[in-house]
Amino acid sequence: MTDEEIKAEFPIFEKRSGKPFHYLDSAATSQRPADVIEAVSQFYYEKNANPHRGVYELAEQATESYENARQVIAQFINADPTQVIYTRNATEGLNLVAYSYGLTHIQKGDHIVISILEHHSNLIPWQRVARAKGAVLDYMYTENGSGKITDEEIEKRIVPGVKLVAITQVSNVLGIVTPYEKIIARAHEVGAVVVVDAAQSAPHLSIDVQTLGADFLAFSGHKLFSPLGIGILWGRKDLLEEMPPFLSGGDMIDSVSEQDAVWAPLPEKFEAGTQNAGGAVGLAAAIHWMNKIGMDTIEEREAAVYDYAWEKLHSLPHVTVYGTGEGKHVGAIAFNIDDAHPHDVASILDADGVCVRAGHHCAQPLMGHLGIHNCCRASISVYNTKEDIDALCDSILKVRKWLGYES
Ligand code: ALA
Repeated sequence: MTDEEIKAEFPIFEKRSGKPFHYLDSAATSQRPADVIEAVSQFYYEKNANPHRGVYELAEQATESYENARQVIAQFINADPTQVIYTRNATEGLNLVAYSYGLTHIQKGDHIVISILEHHSNLIPWQRVARAKGAVLDYMYTENGSGKITDEEIEKRIVPGVKLVAITQVSNVLGIVTPYEKIIARAHEVGAVVVVDAAQSAPHLSIDVQTLGADFLAFSGHKLFSPLGIGILWGRKDLLEEMPPFLSGGDMIDSVSEQDAVWAPLPEKFEAGTQNAGGAVGLAAAIHWMNKIGMDTIEEREAAVYDYAWEKLHSLPHVTVYGTGEGKHVGAIAFNIDDAHPHDVASILDADGVCVRAGHHCAQPLMGHLGIHNCCRASISVYNTKEDIDALCDSILKVRKWLGYES
């Protein structure tokens, strides 16, 4: 497909045509293709009712749409649908594991290991579990702030006594793909359970939970071309079965008496309350759309633009790009401009229609590790082109002049 054909799949580019628009913030949330918007509209136009609540025809249709979506999502990650739990987003999935599994299984003196690359969603829940249980939270650091977690670091941090390892597959700031396979293998060697944060990987890389071998995996729909407010937690069946519910209420029970309740089987046990059925339908439509384009095409297109951006940003004066670029990267590239606050940079770029995120990116410990307080982040999706990167770089070249520097 040509660049124009891919962009034409996303109505927002047409709607915003006539003025510059270079959307480089897909790590925060992606744009949605027409197929997704139409699938969600169709659900609300034709099938809207509360899934699992009614026996009339419309309610049955809503239930069918909601459950068919689960099948599509399960296939996308090669999972059994009963292990695919709807959540609001990756954050909720990670919190579910922390509070349901973590608070039950982590004991005083146990160690939990995460990496310094984690965004707050895969960090604060573990801080809270560690504090509540008297456990110790340890970090795997990257070599000289390069973004690279070495084999030695993995072996040094993941040792007997570690009960849980939580690791992102891709840094939301540096875009680096972590050595998650080695981390999972090492964690299992010492008997630890592994939680994988796939928020930044699922939009870019194929995921197969059978070959991955992790115990839990969470991702958000909205970074993956879907509506906001829908996400997925996948978990190992035996673990999910013995875990207590996270949220409780309607539809997560088999039966309730005045003083007691019997939980529903998986996955309903973890799906209390009315669910985001429109979001589920949208996520399934997004997966159909990704399959239509092809995961290989998505990866190839993104890699070409990512490499171009990496080279070009490095060639600019007064620009620091974070990380060494060693190993596979997808999505995000972080940078700063000398003497310019990232919020000023992002505002100046916005005048040229270039959308980047600026700040600590919900990864403050990583900022400390990199020796900065904040930075700018450009992030690349399948609809981005080299022209978007040219626009970004042209705009970056104006920043210091806007701020009164001679060059
Ligand atoms: N975690 C999202 C980001 O990195 C919101 O921007």
